[in-house]
Amino acid sequence: MEMDKLVSLCKRRGFLFQSSEIYGGLNGFWDYGPLGVELKRNVKEAWWRDMVTGHDELSVVAGAPSEYEMTGLDCTIIMHPQVWKCSGHYDLFHDFMVDCRESKKRYRHDQVRGRWVTFRDKRAFVTTMAEPDKEQAEFEQKSLKLFNLRGKDAGSLVWEGEAMSLTKVPNLAEVLGPDAKTLGTLTEPREFNLMFKTIIGALGSDEDAAFLRPETAQGIFVNFKNVVDSSRVRIPFGIAQMGKSFRNEITPRNFTFRSREFEQMEIEFFCKPASSPEWYKYWRDRRYQWYLDLGLPRERLQLRDHHADELSHYSCGTADIEYAFPFLPPGEFGELEGVAHRGDFDLRSHMEGKLAKDAEGKLAVELNADGKPKHRGSGKDLSYFDDQARERFVPHVIEPSAGADRATLAFLCEAYTEDNVPDENGKPRERTLLKLHPRLAPIKAAVFPLVKKDGMPEAAQKIYRALKKHFNVFYDEGASVGKRYARQDEVGTPYCITIDGETAGGGGVTFRDRDSLKQWRVGADDCVAELSKLLTPTT
Ligand code: GAP
Repeated sequence: MEMDKLVSLCKRRGFLFQSSEIYGGLNGFWDYGPLGVELKRNVKEAWWRDMVTGHDELSVVAGAPSEYEMTGLDCTIIMHPQVWKCSGHYDLFHDFMVDCRESKKRYRHDQVRGRWVTFRDKRAFVTTMAEPDKEQAEFEQKSLKLFNLRGKDAGSLVWEGEAMSLTKVPNLAEVLGPDAKTLGTLTEPREFNLMFKTIIGALGSDEDAAFLRPETAQGIFVNFKNVVDSSRVRIPFGIAQMGKSFRNEITPRNFTFRSREFEQMEIEFFCKPASSPEWYKYWRDRRYQWYLDLGLPRERLQLRDHHADELSHYSCGTADIEYAFPFLPPGEFGELEGVAHRGDFDLRSHMEGKLAKDAEGKLAVELNADGKPKHRGSGKDLSYFDDQARERFVPHVIEPSAGADRATLAFLCEAYTEDNVPDENGKPRERTLLKLHPRLAPIKAAVFPLVKKDGMPEAAQKIYRALKKHFNVFYDEGASVGKRYARQDEVGTPYCITIDGETAGGGGVTFRDRDSLKQWRVGADDCVAELSKLLTPTT
């Protein structure tokens, strides 16, 4: 699937728009249109329902080590600045950047890619920010310009090795920046914090600076005690939260995949240290299955365990759930969700002060030059007392952390389909459709009177009103029925219901399935029951 086609459908049919488009847009920010908002809400509602409100805490869910409880939270976006100091985001949440003295542009060091090229005795590392499939063409064009050559001279360029990241090049004097015309214009890499800063209060100065949260997780950790004290949950239990997060990404790209404002769906699952490896495995598998159940196929969805050198200093295990997004080169996958075993790092950091590994490799409060805690914790006791086992401990945490926008994008990419099907007169017709899972589809059914006369609109509106009480349905009486089907297929509506000349005489209505094109008759009074049956998951 070509990404351009999906992007164009999303704009044309009101799924996604560039933020502030009439002013030229704002890089890394996206607005969901009338259909996009429904789709994203359905993704979030499916997550909340499947993980939180639909969870049965009285039974042992398949694969789980025991019963467990789930509850939710909705915390503020701006939190006490100390939260981010103890979480590690203040010190560690940064990317390395290089600036170009010539073009005045800034790039993420690891995202600039280039290739070594030689012409006669001159050698350079020519770089670009182009997508991988357009890279080589860019390298060639830029090398020709650099060496003052014409297109017909391309054969005299000698390429060395494959394209690679700028991080592998020690001497920046030999580098041609992505938007530069001369060599050596890139600065040495510098750290850049990804948190958005803001000032609290009218008279606020930099000392009152606060941050827009870069993840929802910390709101859960700092409310751990409140939840335990107020809701009688007992370990093992999870707290879920979804909401906006903000990261000042250096190079937002690939549609909504890397945005500066996005939504996360995170669970912090608290358990006894001894059982935490089993819970980690449970959540890894459970979350992977969730995407499969909603339509992502196994061949484009992978569960990838991090290598030991990829793990955070506190993590005993992390796995990413990754999807083969169509904008990536074949064989590459992009992260949808991370499932991490975080040990007791977060609760202890908020209790004692920011932790770091000491000389013996153990987590201890990080000290400053005066031997005092570098970032002081809250001092509040965030341990848990198990009154049955009569023991007190700091729970270990398993964190399944998903992105609502990335999941929505993956479902859209997977759903985009072009096929060739017979129209109502039996002639082959090319069609574009979104094969969205019915739970995710923005509109569940469209209701059409076959023609705008003979009482059909009135009968159709009656059915539409009955359905509307339960589902998001759409009424359409304009254009031929074929065109109306096509419009609904393109936005992923799983069922169309047509009212025709036989309906008034008790002959029922026609249901049509978007994917199989199968049609069947249903009694006019049975539409609500039929659609409920169709939309109820069978598993
Ligand atoms: N609390 C852990 C955490 O935030 P993360 O891997 O940085 O982990 C979790 O983020 C998820 O949030 C990612 O798997 C991704 O789905 C989503 N996400 C992260 N940065 C994003 C961005 N810039 N744009 C869109 N989604 C993003």
